[in-house]
Amino acid sequence: MQTVVITGGTDGLGRGLALHYLNEGARVIAIGSTPEKGEALVAEAKKLSAEGQVHFLRADLTSVASTRRLVEEIENTYASVDKLILCAQRYRLFGKRSVTPEGYEHSFALAYLSRFVLSYGLLDALRCTKQPVIMNVGTPGIGLGKIQWDDLQLERGYNGNKATLQSFRANDLLGVAFAEENASGSVSYIGYNPGVVSTGMPNSLPLPLKIMTKATFAIAATPVRKAVLPMVELLDNPPRETFTAHWKKKPVKLQGNKAFDLADARRLKLVTEELVGTR
Ligand SMILES: NC(=O)c1ccc[n+]([C@@H]2O[C@H](COP(=O)([O-])OP(=O)(O)OC[C@H]3O[C@@H](n4cnc5c(N)ncnc54)[C@H](OP(=O)(O)O)[C@@H]3O)[C@@H](O)[C@H]2O)c1
Repeated sequence: MQTVVITGGTDGLGRGLALHYLNEGARVIAIGSTPEKGEALVAEAKKLSAEGQVHFLRADLTSVASTRRLVEEIENTYASVDKLILCAQRYRLFGKRSVTPEGYEHSFALAYLSRFVLSYGLLDALRCTKQPVIMNVGTPGIGLGKIQWDDLQLERGYNGNKATLQSFRANDLLGVAFAEENASGSVSYIGYNPGVVSTGMPNSLPLPLKIMTKATFAIAATPVRKAVLPMVELLDNPPRETFTAHWKKKPVKLQGNKAFDLADARRLKLVTEELVGTR
């Protein structure tokens, strides 16, 4: 039985993938911060009477300590992980800068640091399996936003859009750095942009934008059940290269794209290790 770990596995794309792999007979570890959403997923799984199993793990992924505990729990309970799918996200495009109790800017912590800690933390568990794969879901290589090297926590001139885009760019560099470390190559690291997908994402937006985004979603967004199909195709047949990026089915060119700059990737890895205390 393969083990599929999905952050944000209780909603949106993560939930869609959880239900897919459950039907395929996998053991799915779905992670989210809201117990009710986890319980709803477990109840739905029971109704499906699928061959797989779903386990809900509650964790607040804005916390590095909590993400580390999660890594430990997964390693101790399941030993090996076939697929790690990183979907947890909560956009904070508006409003004031918010800092986690550990002192990190919220988007940086949730959308980047948790993915960093999980990717490296579960590396040994992934290496125990035949065709290990990590899918980091975001907007790889889109050329918007940048790393604020001298102010990573955005203490000066914060805005939510800048923070969100910085976290996306940081994930591009995470993929490049991870692939370099894993050059001997068992794990396939995939950066994936699903396009516009009709999920609960607008619910966290402030009112006028929430209504506009929901209206746009109603017209232009792909339903989750359809959006997960190309993701599954990649997850089940991961590319041989240690790092690839994709916009739906289309590969994103890495060479010459500043978003995937190797020197920047090495630099961010060092800075991140210092930040989370692993260096
Ligand atoms: N939807 C799109 O159009 C779109 C487009 C491009 C890229 N993406 C990317 O696709 C990924 C999935 O997006 P989605 O639209 O499916 O998201 P979504 O429906 O909003 O679901 C987000 C998931 O993240 C979890 N989460 C949020 N904060 C968390 C925290 N602090 N700790 C643990 N879990 C947390 C949520 O669970 P709780 O609520 O229980 O915390 C939920 O399961 C994201 O990385 C997003 O950037 C989406």
